[in-house]
Amino acid sequence: MTHFHGAQVLLLSALVACGSASDSAKVSSAPTDAGVEDAGALDGWDREVAQVPLADEDPAPDVVQVTLEARVSNVEIEPGQSVELWTYNGSLPGPLIRAQVGDKLRVHFTNLLPEPTTIHWHGLEVPADMDGAGVDQGIVAPGDSFDYEFVVPHAGTYWYHPHVNSSAQVWRGLYGALVVDDATQPELGAETVLVLSDISFEADGVITSPESNGSLGDFFGREGHILLVNGRVLPTLRARNGDALRLRVINAAVSRYFLLQVDGHLLTRVGGDGGLLARPEARPEVLLVPGERADIVLVPNGKVGSTLLLRAAPYSRFLCGAACGQEESLLEIAIVTGQGRAPALPSTLRAIPALDMGDAIAQDIDFTQGKVKGDPVLGINGQAYPENPFELHALVGQTQLWNVGNATDYDHPFHLHGFRFQVLTRDGSAPEVAEWKDTLNIPARSRAQIGVQFDDRPGMWMIHCHILDHAKIGMMGMLHLTR
Ligand code: C2O
Ligand code: CU
Repeated sequence: MTHFHGAQVLLLSALVACGSASDSAKVSSAPTDAGVEDAGALDGWDREVAQVPLADEDPAPDVVQVTLEARVSNVEIEPGQSVELWTYNGSLPGPLIRAQVGDKLRVHFTNLLPEPTTIHWHGLEVPADMDGAGVDQGIVAPGDSFDYEFVVPHAGTYWYHPHVNSSAQVWRGLYGALVVDDATQPELGAETVLVLSDISFEADGVITSPESNGSLGDFFGREGHILLVNGRVLPTLRARNGDALRLRVINAAVSRYFLLQVDGHLLTRVGGDGGLLARPEARPEVLLVPGERADIVLVPNGKVGSTLLLRAAPYSRFLCGAACGQEESLLEIAIVTGQGRAPALPSTLRAIPALDMGDAIAQDIDFTQGKVKGDPVLGINGQAYPENPFELHALVGQTQLWNVGNATDYDHPFHLHGFRFQVLTRDGSAPEVAEWKDTLNIPARSRAQIGVQFDDRPGMWMIHCHILDHAKIGMMGMLHLTR
C-alpha cells in the first residue's frame, strides 16, 4: 500500500537533497588495485539520503561538541506535502552525529517542545546520569537546556531518541543516528547511514495521533503507513555493478519490524548493535527490530540500467492477518555503471572474546501479559511499569546470566540501557557469530540467554520492550546497579 510514484518523488528529492558532502567523502571506498581507475563509490552515489554530520564546535581533536534543539517543525515528507513534526534541529531524522572512538561528546541540548523530554543515547555505554532515561533526574522541561557530556567508548552504529513519553515523541519524529568510527577498523565498502522509520498523517497534513485506537493501538504497537529512509520515501542510491556498499541501518520505528531483503542478493552483516561482528555473516535476509542496528555489506549485481530494491518482506510479529501481509519497498539501488570489483571481505573482522560466565548470577526476566479492567496490560514478570515495576539488582563488577523469556504470543524486542551484552543461546542454540548487542528480538513463546558484565557505572538502568507502545503500557523495568 504505497501511495507514491517513485520516479516523481525521486526526481524532486534529488533536486532538493541536502548537501553534496556525503559520508563517502569521509569514509573512503573499497581499496582499489593500481590501474583500476574507476573502482570505488561513484561521486554523489548516496546524495538522496546522505546526512552531513553535525558540525563539531570544539577545535580540540578529541572533543566533539554539537548543538541539538528539539522543536516543532514542518517537514516535507513528499513533494508538496508538509507534516508538522517534533524534530531535532528541524530535520527528519535528526542530524547525524559522528565521533571517533574515545572522543568526548558534548551535546548542548535545548527543549523547545511543549512538554518535557530527554535524550537517550541508545546503545552507548554512558554514565547513568547521562543516559537520558528520565527516571529520577535529567528531565528537560520546556524551555530548558541540558548539556550531555560523555566519552564514546566503542565504535559502532548507535542512535538517539527521547525517553519521556517516548512512544509519542518518537512517533512524532524525534530520532537520529550517532556513528562512532574507529580508524583502525577495516574499510568494507562505500558507506552510508540509513535510518528506517514509518509515519502516518491525515489528509490535512496532521500527523496521526500517537494515541490512535487507544489501548488496542498500544497493545498492537502502532505502525505508520508510509515507510521512510532518512525521512524520504523510496530514495535511490546510485551504484557501480560489483562494488561493495556498506549500509549502516537503524530501526527507529516505534513498533515496526523490518525484514530486509534484496532479490537475488545476499546481505552480509558485518556489524550489529555494538560494532563489528567477529566475522561477516551472509544471509538472504536480515530482521531488524525496533531499536536494533545492522551494518550490511551489499554487492549489487545486475545489468547497467537495472534497479535493485531493498524491501521489507512480511514478518508476523503479532497475531495479525492482513495487516502484516504486505511487502514494502524501502530503497532503490540503481546500477548506473559497471564494472566494479569488490575485494573479498576479511574472514575475521575482530576478536570478540566470550564473557566468562563461570561465576555468573542468574536472573529470570519474562515478558508477560495480563489484564486490568478489560484493558491489556503488558509487563515483565507480571509487573507493570510505572505503578509496580519489575526491579532487579546487580553489583558493579558482577557478571550476570539473564534468562529472557517471552510468555506472550507475539514478539518483543528486549533492550537493556547502558550495557552491551552477548547472546549465549537462543532457544537452546548458540549464535554462529559472536557480537555485542543491546537489543534482541525475543520471538513469541521463546527464550534467550544473555551474558552481561557490569562495569563501574552504578545507577538505575532501564530494561524494556523496544516496541515503545508496549513499554508505555507496562513492559519496562529497572536494574539497580550498586557498588
Ligand atoms: Cu532506545 Cu529505553 O531505549
Ligand atoms: Cu513488546
